[in-house]
Formats: sequence, C-alpha cells, structure tokens
Amino acid sequence: MSEPTVPSSSPRPESAPAALVLGGAGGIGAAVSRRVAENHALTIGYHHHADRAESLAAELRSAGHTVELVESDATTEKGVIRAFDAAEQLGDLATVVDCVGGWGYPRLTELTQEDIDQALALNLRSALLILREAARRVHDGGKVVLLSSAAAEVAPPRQSTYAAAKAGLEAAARVAAKEVAKRGVTVNVVRPGATDTEFMRQVTAPRAVEAMAAGNAMKRLGTPEDVAGAVMTLLSPDADWITGAVLEATGGLR
Ligand SMILES: NC(=O)c1ccc[n+]([C@@H]2O[C@H](COP(=O)([O-])OP(=O)(O)OC[C@H]3O[C@@H](n4cnc5c(N)ncnc54)[C@H](OP(=O)(O)O)[C@@H]3O)[C@@H](O)[C@H]2O)c1
Repeated sequence: MSEPTVPSSSPRPESAPAALVLGGAGGIGAAVSRRVAENHALTIGYHHHADRAESLAAELRSAGHTVELVESDATTEKGVIRAFDAAEQLGDLATVVDCVGGWGYPRLTELTQEDIDQALALNLRSALLILREAARRVHDGGKVVLLSSAAAEVAPPRQSTYAAAKAGLEAAARVAAKEVAKRGVTVNVVRPGATDTEFMRQVTAPRAVEAMAAGNAMKRLGTPEDVAGAVMTLLSPDADWITGAVLEATGGLR
C-alpha cells in the first residue's frame, strides 16, 4: 500500500496525515480520538455536545496534538460534507472512523414510524453518507473503520431497529470495501459488545447492564479503550490486507 503522502507543494510538508473521527467526542469516540491523534492531524466531529468536544480538544492540544472540531449532523448530507471539508483543511485525508450511533429499547409492538426513521438515520444513513464521502476523498492507501454493534449479529430483544441498522452498516461497508479496493483503501467494521459509556448507562436499566457484563467470556463490560484498541488494529499498517471484515470487540460474546 502507498504510505500517506503530503504533496511537495503543501504548506505543511512536515505534518502528520489527516484523520476524521465522526462522533469522536462520545464515550467510545473519545477513546478512539485519543489514539488517532497520536499520529494524525485530527478533526473531531460532534453534533449535540459542544462542551464535551471542546474539553477533549483542549486535552489533546495540551498534549501537543493537532486537533480541530467540526459541528456536523452526520444524519444529513450537508453535515457529512461539512465534516470532510473541515478534515481536508488539515491535509490529505488518510483515516476516517465513524463512531456515530445510538439506540433505545422500543418493543416491536410499540414501534413507531418515527422510531424506525430515527434509528435508520442515526446508524445507517449516516454510515452510508460517511462511506460515500470517504470513497470520494480518502487518499490512496487510506483506511476507513465504522462502529457496528454485536446487536447486528446477536439480535437482542427490543433492538429491532438498531440491529437492522447496524446489520445494514456492515453490509454497506463490505460493498464499499470492494469499490475502493483498487486504490488500496481498506474499509472495515468493529463490532463492540456492551461497552461502559455514559450513553449506554443512560439508556440501559442497571439490571440489564449487569446481565450484559456477565454475558461474555471475560465477564465484564468492555471499556471505550478496549474498543479503541480494536479500531487501531484495523488502522495499523499490519491490517493492509484486511478489508470488508468485521472485527468483534466483545470480550467473547459467543
Ligand atoms: N456503548 C456500547 O455498549 C456500544 C455497543 C455497541 C456499539 N456501540 C456503538 O458505538 C458508537 C458509540 O457509542 P457510545 O456508547 O460511545 O455512545 P455516545 O457517547 O452517545 O456516542 C455516540 C456519538 O454519536 C454522536 N452523534 C449522535 N447523533 C449524532 C448526529 N446526528 N450527528 C453526528 N454525531 C452524532 C455523538 O456526538 P454528540 O453527542 O456531540 O451528538 C457521540 O459522539 C455508536 O455507534 C454505538 O452504536 C456502542
């Protein structure tokens, strides 16, 4: 694979390759951003929580990293284009990670059309828009990683919309991997199991959290850093020959 390059005409010949982490200030996203910032000029996408993004950016800048923020609604075409435009300001785009997503626990019998549309927009439309922009803009030899969920495979009760959306994300990533392969770009998916984030604890009953922690081989919740480690594995040069793959980061769920 060709290494990330900076054109000789660039005003930043010494700079690190550029990366975009969408949803990059969230629970898992922040752990990913901390790792990606180590060797990239990083743009972090956020939407609802500007304060959280500002505080992460301040932390990373004070550690000497190049970090910019972009407010971007990833469920919209305009928002995703805006995020990629911002990321390209820092150089040739080598790396994109999609950490955008979320879920509730609607019973099938109570599912509304709005629930369906919201879940698909947040978890699937965003991923398709991100894949499209990545296919257009990530430079040759670059890497794209998207976060799915064990729900896509395990099909847990009350997760019909989320499981369907994440299964769709995985299918789209496999297609994208084929379309960009001729440029040496890889597209892969990390499939986390239950991971200890503020959002997960907000939406999940404590008893269900305990059951999820007991449900894998390691008998604990994943940490955001566990998941970031899986993302970094797929971003490393050792993963140049891995594309269209789903990497489970679940502590051994089955
Ligand atoms: N935690 C788990 O147990 C678990 C398990 C499996 C998979 N996952 C997946 O891992 C990812 C991160 O989850 P998390 O637990 O870390 O939750 P989180 O902290 O809520 O992260 C979700 C991220 O999505 C962003 N986001 C939400 N709506 C957006 C929108 N319309 N446009 C742009 N960004 C938006 C949020 O940013 P703002 O808040 O700034 O909008 C946030 O950074 C999600 O894809 C989730 O499905 C999580």
